[in-house]
Amino acid sequence: MKTDLLHGSLVHLTVQDPETMARLFSQWSGDSEYSRLLDWDPACRFSVHSSQKWLEKDSEKQINYYFSIRTLEDDKIIGLIGLDGIQWTHGDCFVGIGLGEREFWGKGYGTDAMKIILRYAFTELNLKRVSLNVFEYNPRGVRSYEKAGFSHEGRERGLLLREGKRWDVIFMGILREEWLKQKENQ
Ligand SMILES: CC(C)(COP(=O)(O)OP(=O)(O)OC[C@H]1O[C@@H](n2cnc3c(N)ncnc32)[C@H](O)[C@@H]1OP(=O)(O)O)[C@@H](O)C(=O)NCCC(=O)NCCS
Repeated sequence: MKTDLLHGSLVHLTVQDPETMARLFSQWSGDSEYSRLLDWDPACRFSVHSSQKWLEKDSEKQINYYFSIRTLEDDKIIGLIGLDGIQWTHGDCFVGIGLGEREFWGKGYGTDAMKIILRYAFTELNLKRVSLNVFEYNPRGVRSYEKAGFSHEGRERGLLLREGKRWDVIFMGILREEWLKQKENQ
């Protein structure tokens, strides 16, 4: 019981302050590449005001499993990660992640954050599986999730239409037993 649950080797996960995150949401929504990696809704810009309203509504929920991702080096907020759609009866949930600060892409920060939230999901919430989906045109995301221990579970072919091309949506998941085995082998 000595582990600081929300601490990794590059980042830690902290509470989302609606005011700060609204400013960052609005700023990050100006990066359409980021928006198109994250979401299948048409990329658009969000004002600080609308982002704050949305975040405040979300934080009214008694329990919120969304966190800011901060670097250990200087505590800078570089993104967000959260568990959603938790089905307590079945022990299942979805995870979503986005590093809005693009200079941190490809340097291990996202994978570290994912490893932290998996530990949280399996050891604190006692969930049985974590699921996600990722777009075919996001090989960085796919590779990061493989490194965190996710397996490929299937794909919906040609679900997305972007820039005149149809792209698959890839489904990935990790089971609690797989995560435990991975820990043993480390
Ligand atoms: C997806 C995301 C969370 C991954 O986190 P990250 O910190 O960038 O990932 P990492 O640096 O740990 O790992 C990336 C891996 O992808 C690999 N990679 C990068 N670009 C690649 C490409 N074009 N093709 C194949 N692999 C690629 C890297 O080499 C690295 O693998 P390696 O460590 O084996 O060399 C982060 O990049 C992000 O938030 N991106 C923008 C938004 C987004 O895509 N959100 C996810 C939506 S599902």
